[in-house]
Amino acid sequence: MSKLFTPIKIRSVEFRNRAWIAPMCIYSCDNQDGVVGAFHLAHHSKFAMGGAGLIMAEATGVTPEGRISPWCPGIWNDEQTVAWRKVTDLVHTLGGKIGIQLAHAGRKGSTNRGWPGYAPGSVSLADGGWQTVSTGTDAFPGYDAPRALETSEIDKLVHAWAQAAKRAVAAGFDCVEVHAAHGYLLHQFMSPLTNQRSDIYGGSIENRARFLLEVVAEVRKAVGPDYPVIVRVSATDWHPDGLHREDTAQILKWAKEAGADLFDISTGGLVAGVHIPVAPGYQIPYAEYVAENNGDPVGGVGLITTGRQAEDILLTHQLGVVSVGRAALRDPFWPARAAAELGEELSYWPPQYARGWFPAE
Ligand SMILES: Cc1cc2nc3c(=O)[nH]c(=O)nc-3n(C[C@H](O)[C@H](O)[C@H](O)COP(=O)(O)O)c2cc1C
Repeated sequence: MSKLFTPIKIRSVEFRNRAWIAPMCIYSCDNQDGVVGAFHLAHHSKFAMGGAGLIMAEATGVTPEGRISPWCPGIWNDEQTVAWRKVTDLVHTLGGKIGIQLAHAGRKGSTNRGWPGYAPGSVSLADGGWQTVSTGTDAFPGYDAPRALETSEIDKLVHAWAQAAKRAVAAGFDCVEVHAAHGYLLHQFMSPLTNQRSDIYGGSIENRARFLLEVVAEVRKAVGPDYPVIVRVSATDWHPDGLHREDTAQILKWAKEAGADLFDISTGGLVAGVHIPVAPGYQIPYAEYVAENNGDPVGGVGLITTGRQAEDILLTHQLGVVSVGRAALRDPFWPARAAAELGEELSYWPPQYARGWFPAE
């Protein structure tokens, strides 16, 4: 059997394979209330039917200001939790597993829908936007300036993450992912490029990592000992003065001690104007570095498009899982297609679709 289709167990949860769906914003809470609806139900059910080992739901605000855009989902109130429950129930009925990415966008919040026809940049208060927050008051290029968080506010945000994690369990998710990547709030604190604070959350790497580590520890407490906690980071800022893979590996060692189980390794997103050598598998060496330093399981992502490529990555780079983003948007049956490519039969291919199984190559 391929490694890609060998189940993986994390704490008490067994995932049926290692072909996971990456978190992807779809900007589809039309009423700007963070409540998921019809598109989310259809979107996630396709991936469940397509054989994914785990579907990671998109960046979801732990507070209203934690959303990326006014159309992004939330998990800070009961109505949102009940709506998410419908999604998780449907995915479970279809045999899938689903996690949720718990996020705070910081200075990269209050942005426009990432859809064609919507100009990039900040959304005004009148149109549903908000005053963003960050480590300081420097804006991400093209966005409105944030307000610096008071030290005392950070505690409240750590609490918001823990509450969101409790709600995630109540909503039926199989795991949670703390979003500390792509230039969002936790990453803004972790990187020396965006953190010039002089309190206990700025300065040394220990101080810059403190917010993330407090979040991981409180999320672990909130979900209990049997539940998987994943952390997504950008392993490098692709900038000489930013975070490097060695810093990230160190921070993740601490995150493991704080209760994280698996690290989902992405890169970049913190500052604009840096050169990123985008190519198939370009982030995998960063994931491998973390795996070498922190041990399996580590997840790799980025321009993975074929089953053979995914299998090679798992076998030769010591990774535990891979996540697929855009390839799964155009082909929600991507995991099943990858299985067919690797000569696997999938016991969970829907019998309704038996006659449509992929022809031999
Ligand atoms: C439409 C879209 C939305 C995304 N939203 C998120 C998100 O909510 N959280 C996140 O961590 N990454 C997000 N990403 C990044 C993906 O999770 C993934 O890391 C990236 O697309 C690279 O994988 P791929 O080459 O397989 O698409 C998004 C990517 C796309 C294309």
